[in-house]
Amino acid sequence: MKERTLVFLKPEAIQRLVCGEIIARFEKKCLKIVGMKMMQITKEIAREHYAHIVSKPFYPDLESFITSSPVLVMVLEGKEAVELVLNMCGPTNATKAPPGTIRGDLSNSVSKNIIHRSDTKEAAEKEIKRFFKKEELFDYKMNNQKYFYADDE
Ligand code: PPS
Repeated sequence: MKERTLVFLKPEAIQRLVCGEIIARFEKKCLKIVGMKMMQITKEIAREHYAHIVSKPFYPDLESFITSSPVLVMVLEGKEAVELVLNMCGPTNATKAPPGTIRGDLSNSVSKNIIHRSDTKEAAEKEIKRFFKKEELFDYKMNNQKYFYADDE
């Protein structure tokens, strides 16, 4: 039910000035921002985060791209947040992402696919710990709480 997931808006989202548009989509869909910061992904963090693909031929380009400028990292909370955000982003290869998804509307690339999102609950837990300290996450109530967790009440 109520879950947290991690996203980061990749360097080209910052460069293309579309962060606000992406954040607005999450807010409109009743996902609550419980953590948000701009940070520079270092080569070390990139290698840890992308450990499963570090040996792929495209990794060096991915690493240099992801470390090329800051990213905007967020933890989003809501009902079935992991699956919801996965669907809102669309598939990794943005060229094949359907219109209406974030990647489908804002990207046409597999490496510069505008946003990273956790793909499972287990990954979300690990990634939130990777990018955020406990004190950087906020537990607070919304005034219109019923829109956020309607089925939980
Ligand atoms: S997924 O959806 O996270 O499981 O995607 P995955 O296939 O594991 O890919 C992980 C990240 O690698 C990037 N990627 C690529 N970059 C360049 N070329 C190719 N062919 C390629 N395939 C995958 C992709 O942008 C994924 O980044 P994240 O941050 O996970 O979106």
